[in-house]
Amino acid sequence: MIKLSKFSSIFIANWKLNGNIEFIEKYYQKLLANPKNCTVVCSPNIYLNRLKNNNINLFSGAQDVSLYNEGAYTGEISANMLNDEKIDFCLVGHSERRQYFNESNKTIKIKTSNLINNNIIPVICIGETLEEKEKKLTKKVLDKQINESIPIESNFENSIIAYEPIWAIGTGLTPSLEEIEEVHSFIKTKNIRFNKFKVLYGGSIKASNSKNINNLPNVDGCLIGGSSLKVDEFNSIIS
Ligand code: PGA
Repeated sequence: MIKLSKFSSIFIANWKLNGNIEFIEKYYQKLLANPKNCTVVCSPNIYLNRLKNNNINLFSGAQDVSLYNEGAYTGEISANMLNDEKIDFCLVGHSERRQYFNESNKTIKIKTSNLINNNIIPVICIGETLEEKEKKLTKKVLDKQINESIPIESNFENSIIAYEPIWAIGTGLTPSLEEIEEVHSFIKTKNIRFNKFKVLYGGSIKASNSKNINNLPNVDGCLIGGSSLKVDEFNSIIS
């Protein structure tokens, strides 16, 4: 398993359902991973092994994993298979999976355990809707997601938390710096066991806002969707 504690910042590209061979070849020719940080590219599974892993501290990540380890589950890919292909990271519980594929905290917890058991670092995504934010329920919602989706075996060395407000994903909107810092500090202090966890921020990260967000004391890196598809922009974020 990758030693997370040696990195001060972690940047994860989430390509979602985007990319093709031509795109990938051009992308990896231009990608300039900063060796001081940890950079992860979460491409669609079929392309995971196309990452030119000749760059120090540049890793491949999956965007999801099966709930099951093996058996009659057509179309699924298990944590064990990802491990077999030397994949080091995997997103779990992204809001698009929660929303469009009915993922619950319970299934996210099982997937997270399966990944840890296979030496893959789960990046557990949590976040509130706009309605919840407006009703001042953010902390309550996050508290429930954390309590119900993070298994007891998760710790700062084998798991990452990503805070992604749902209303900020793909919208160009972000919380204020104060709001991000307050939420990250809440996540780390709500229970002593989360104190040393790496907590990433995600949602409309761009080259123009990433530096200020990443410089916040309790932000340990970013999860980047749309902007990670533009290699120059992503290079500038991770530099
Ligand atoms: P975005 O997506 O950067 O396009 O807002 C982030 C994500 O969904 O992980």
